[in-house]
Amino acid sequence: MTTPRGGPGPVLHFADEAPLAGALAQALRVPSLTVGCHRFPDDEFRLTLPSSLPATAVLLRGLQQPNEKLAQLLLLVPALREAGVERLTLVAPYLAYMRQDMAFLPREVVSQRHLGRALATWFDAVVTVDPHLHRVATLAEVVPGRKGVALSAADAIGAFVATRDPSALLLGPDEESAQWVRAAAAAGSLEHAVGRKIRHGDHEVELRLPQGLNLRGRAVVLVDDVASTGRTLAAAAEGVLAQGASRVDVAVTHALFVGEAESLIRRAGVSEIWSTDSVPHASNVITIVPLLARALAAWPPVGR
Ligand code: R5P
Repeated sequence: MTTPRGGPGPVLHFADEAPLAGALAQALRVPSLTVGCHRFPDDEFRLTLPSSLPATAVLLRGLQQPNEKLAQLLLLVPALREAGVERLTLVAPYLAYMRQDMAFLPREVVSQRHLGRALATWFDAVVTVDPHLHRVATLAEVVPGRKGVALSAADAIGAFVATRDPSALLLGPDEESAQWVRAAAAAGSLEHAVGRKIRHGDHEVELRLPQGLNLRGRAVVLVDDVASTGRTLAAAAEGVLAQGASRVDVAVTHALFVGEAESLIRRAGVSEIWSTDSVPHASNVITIVPLLARALAAWPPVGR
């Protein structure tokens, strides 16, 4: 198979990400090629490469449920290299292990640093969306020596919310969400505010809303990069409703929603849940395909 000079190459994907891969390939006007994956009864994988591979290719693999996906990458990338792929871009719309960006307790392993180095040994470029970069400024620092591109869905989220309710107040639950809330608010010409979160454990979260913020009768949209256990959004929803907000909705980039997260958020009083299609979920209403396609239109991918 030949790739037009300077083009991104075909989009390789696993069957579970066929819809996003197909839409991305269509936007890029390249083929989408499926990597076969058989799971043996003991949970090992047998992978099968597409029949023909060019020297430049994109691999779409979101890293939600990261541990098994990382095992797939561990097996697949060397096989792609052996098959002649020289320039390989990972598109991981959700990039896992970014929140452990320092040792919060003595002897804790800094997962972000080590996963980033592993990705840098496997891939020539890594493209993701709204990675949880807090104490590290750029994705290039996470994948040393490689092209790292961190895109943001915040503009698309802000524009979407503005079509639903131009008078909505965007609220970021914590300081870490401030970067996305500010951008979303600017894109949608919306008001915004940022709260403060104190996390006591995986499932224990305390939220402080900004002092002096008058929420009486306001429609509030909680904006965050990721909903995982849903505790952050549930605590924020309860807080804003207790302060007199007329309704509360949620907009996130990555809809992980593990376990009971969604029902927890609903029980906290959230009306609508909106997310991007970075992680397949029933709440997906905003597509990241144009964002990815712009960055991937040429080799190497464009962006910071
Ligand atoms: C952390 O600061 C992130 O921005 C999210 O707020 C957090 O990861 C959400 O996690 P959970 O849904 O488990 O509260």
